[in-house]
Amino acid sequence: MECELEIRRRLQGAGQEQLLSFWDELSPGERDSLLGELRLLDGAELQEHCRRALDAYVRESSSPQRLDHRMSPVPPEFLGSVRKSAPEELEAWEEEGYRQISQNKVAVLLLAGGQGTRLGVTYPKGMYSVGLPSGKTLYQIQAERILRLQQLAGEKYSTRCTVPWYIMTSEFTLNPTRAFFEQHNFFGIDRTDVVMFEQRMLPAVGFNGKVILERKDKVAMAPDGNGGLYKALADNHILEDMEARGISYIHVYCVDNILVKLADPVFIGFCVSKGADCGAKVVEKSYPSEPVGVVCQVDGIYQVVEYSEISPETAEKCNPDGSLTYNAGSICNHFFTLDFLKNMAGSLEKRLGYHVAIKKVPYVDEEGNLVKPTRPNGIKMEKFVFDVFQFAKNFVAFEVVREEEFSPLKNADTADKDTPTTARRSLLWQHYRWALKAGAKFTNANGRAIAENAGTPEADEPPAICEISPLISYFGEGLDVHLNNMDISPPFILDIQKV
Ligand code: UD1
Repeated sequence: MECELEIRRRLQGAGQEQLLSFWDELSPGERDSLLGELRLLDGAELQEHCRRALDAYVRESSSPQRLDHRMSPVPPEFLGSVRKSAPEELEAWEEEGYRQISQNKVAVLLLAGGQGTRLGVTYPKGMYSVGLPSGKTLYQIQAERILRLQQLAGEKYSTRCTVPWYIMTSEFTLNPTRAFFEQHNFFGIDRTDVVMFEQRMLPAVGFNGKVILERKDKVAMAPDGNGGLYKALADNHILEDMEARGISYIHVYCVDNILVKLADPVFIGFCVSKGADCGAKVVEKSYPSEPVGVVCQVDGIYQVVEYSEISPETAEKCNPDGSLTYNAGSICNHFFTLDFLKNMAGSLEKRLGYHVAIKKVPYVDEEGNLVKPTRPNGIKMEKFVFDVFQFAKNFVAFEVVREEEFSPLKNADTADKDTPTTARRSLLWQHYRWALKAGAKFTNANGRAIAENAGTPEADEPPAICEISPLISYFGEGLDVHLNNMDISPPFILDIQKV
């Protein structure tokens, strides 16, 4: 194993010997832990990383990179839509999706390596409970949707099928996520069908080009962005695992959307029918500055332009009918073929560029004091999952209805939008709509009918609180038998035990 002296030499070569500034003050345990971290940093790569970070920072601060004048919207012929496509087409896509699922060709892949900084919790976001009557967490909801989908596809085609669940974690989220799944017995999913793997981390760099020490014995490291997926797939031999299971199509999604339709048969069927190697789900943006990426073309090539990388003027640009020109808001739900991922995890990964984020990174100053900066002091470099769209041979986008499919949990309840409250309401309103459609009659404690549709999902709880287990219904199907003409006095939970 490399000793302190060798590591010191390597760091000197990379111009980063400041990482050992406090060596003499460290206890044996602290020394081991710091050396453990430093051993993983290759000298040449570290030097290159710091140079790239500094260049990107200088470039961004002098003339921020704007893509505006090179952008154009997605042409309509590449866009399927739940609202605009013909019902027969939608049905055919759904059927195709179920067929692929029933043949065990579809997997889901969750991006769960983020730190959830905006939400302000110290544990992985998937473990968050938004205050539903059942108390279910995001992970449990997702697990139950997978179980129900397997059941639906299996029943349709009289098979037993599996949708394996791959979960990309990071140093921050792997252990707590694993422990949480163990504690909940993998929510009833066969544990061999849940594959957790870890993405890489990258050091945060100060404005002087030097890697930041977060503590005397710890380098400030952050996950390499959700585009770290492609390296992580290769590092952990995940594509071989998929191949061995016969997987051809992968639905990649982010952890925080409480309405996510995992392995959505309509989306999968649409992408497969169009012969796509790469696809993205989008919703109409609700306001110009909404923090979602926009699916569009840049110099004629498909790309997501992130909300942080577009000017307000472009975001506000309108068509003659008043709709936003850049309206295709990415909801971080992507479709890939296994072959496409193989290319990406192979030689193409290196061609993905880094995005630079200027952040407040806690550090130790020269005297060894821990400092929590009030102003940004560090450069973090990230790759983005959707940057691979540029390599697609056949890219498609699929537009879905926001209130049915997108309600992300980003912020704490002190914010107005994308909070635990808004996420909870979105789900409960959806279940309320499903229950009404299935013929449920909601009555109050005095036996009086509760007025339908009072209030709005943004501002209010639904008129009647009714939560439906994903184990019973994946997307509103099969509820008549439980709810038709049933008098329900809320709050009401329809779950598997009560059936
Ligand atoms: C993301 C999308 C944005 C989209 C929005 C929809 C990216 C880069 N941005 O924005 O286009 O409109 O969601 O809600 O995809 N993650 C990792 N590893 C990391 C960093 C993040 O796995 O190193 C995961 C997170 O756990 C999360 C997902 O990636 O599941 C999205 O990350 P987040 O930082 O929340 O992205 P947003 O800025 O919200």
